[in-house]
Amino acid sequence: MSEVAKIEYNGQVYELPVVTGSENEKGIDIAKLRGSSGGLITLDRGFKNTGSCESAITFLNGEEGILRYRGYSIEELADKADFLEVAYLLIFGELPTQEQLSKFDADIKAEAHVDEDVKRILDGFPKSAHPMGVLSALTSALIAFNPSSVNANSEEEMYQAIVKIMAKFPVLTAWAHRKRMGLPLDYGDDNLGYVQNFLKMMFKKPNAEYQENKIITNAIDKLLILHADHEQNCSTSTVRIVGSSHAGLFASLSAGISALWGPLHGGANQAVIEMLEAIKADGGDTKKYMGKAKDKEDPFRLMGFGHRVYKNFDPRAKIIKVAADEVLGDLGVEDPVLGIAKGLEQEALSDAYFVDRKLYPNVDFYSGIIYRALGIPTEMFTPMFALGRLPGWIAQWREMRLKGEPIGRPRQIYTGANARDFKDIANR
Ligand code: CMC
Repeated sequence: MSEVAKIEYNGQVYELPVVTGSENEKGIDIAKLRGSSGGLITLDRGFKNTGSCESAITFLNGEEGILRYRGYSIEELADKADFLEVAYLLIFGELPTQEQLSKFDADIKAEAHVDEDVKRILDGFPKSAHPMGVLSALTSALIAFNPSSVNANSEEEMYQAIVKIMAKFPVLTAWAHRKRMGLPLDYGDDNLGYVQNFLKMMFKKPNAEYQENKIITNAIDKLLILHADHEQNCSTSTVRIVGSSHAGLFASLSAGISALWGPLHGGANQAVIEMLEAIKADGGDTKKYMGKAKDKEDPFRLMGFGHRVYKNFDPRAKIIKVAADEVLGDLGVEDPVLGIAKGLEQEALSDAYFVDRKLYPNVDFYSGIIYRALGIPTEMFTPMFALGRLPGWIAQWREMRLKGEPIGRPRQIYTGANARDFKDIANR
């Protein structure tokens, strides 16, 4: 028998259905509450307690630190799969067979070029432009060279749109980097795998043959997998809500990239390194910065700490911390900020402020340290996150469109002035 929840208001009881997920998560479906109660809505600032959809893509249990894509644990995927397989899994629901994976790879390769006119748009940006702004703009600009909307009823159109953006996005990401570095743009090489090719497009020098470093390729592959989806976070919700108006895939993604840029979301990976550098330059006094983070009069927050959903630990952070040690060891890189990061973590884990609020290191706390060791400049950390999150955004957008979800349009409680007469300018 299906469960119901009851809301009592003004002596009237409203019965609302309870929806149960496959991991026994419960949600009260309030869709009919407003209509039946004559105007009652729920209010939930920042959607801290509101589900926006039912989704079969990613399962996250913040209390127990569990993250699974389509039922597979993040630990196992990071260990055994590669990024393209995970992308396929997220988007289409199952791990690909060898044949499906080869076709996906070949279809992506066939689209891995960008209209030459896009270069002229890139040219218009100053070198100092943040690559997240450049990426968002170029992703949006792709609409001019591709169909602006996708017919969700056509499997072929959906597939083509997905393959196109999976192919062109790494090109744009690498180009955003090369533009900043003053390097000629590169189209990569069809013979390379997805991640290998991306790294070649990023780092190939015009006067030297590109030499792959397997440690770097494997580390980036793992980082991309760890970032590939995280259910209804800020940028994914943005992609869904923009897509819910039936705006095209590229337009929805462009909006998601902008949402990811913020320092409370994906931009935290850049903010963490900048914070660690600032602490180092200030003599490495971690206690001082712990004090600032706890001081409610001080806007400073310990970047890379805390999470809306994880109230135990972020499983991605655990994997990345181990990987950071391994990668720095393998590459023979010594980075003093790693020591500062570990010191901060130790202090926070035994500090009542952080313990009481269940604030643990999140995915962004150690990722910047690895990116830096791999030769990725600080401003490119968030674009790397975007590249990793791309399949998640696509999967969520596709699921939303295939389900025919209604346009996203929250309600509000109006708190402004009541109706009043217009005053002409002389009387104001
Ligand atoms: N440093 C100091 N205090 C913090 C921090 C922090 N990093 N994070 C949360 N708090 C405090 C906050 O002040 C509040 O205290 P009080 O109850 O006394 O008012 C309490 O902890 C709860 O925080 P909140 O801001 O209400 O929690 P939220 O769920 O709205 O925000 C968050 C989550 C991730 C935005 C926040 O923890 C934060 O700003 N962290 C730093 C930025 C960061 O690392 N972001 C990356 C998130 S993970 C990757 C991603 O999403 O892309």
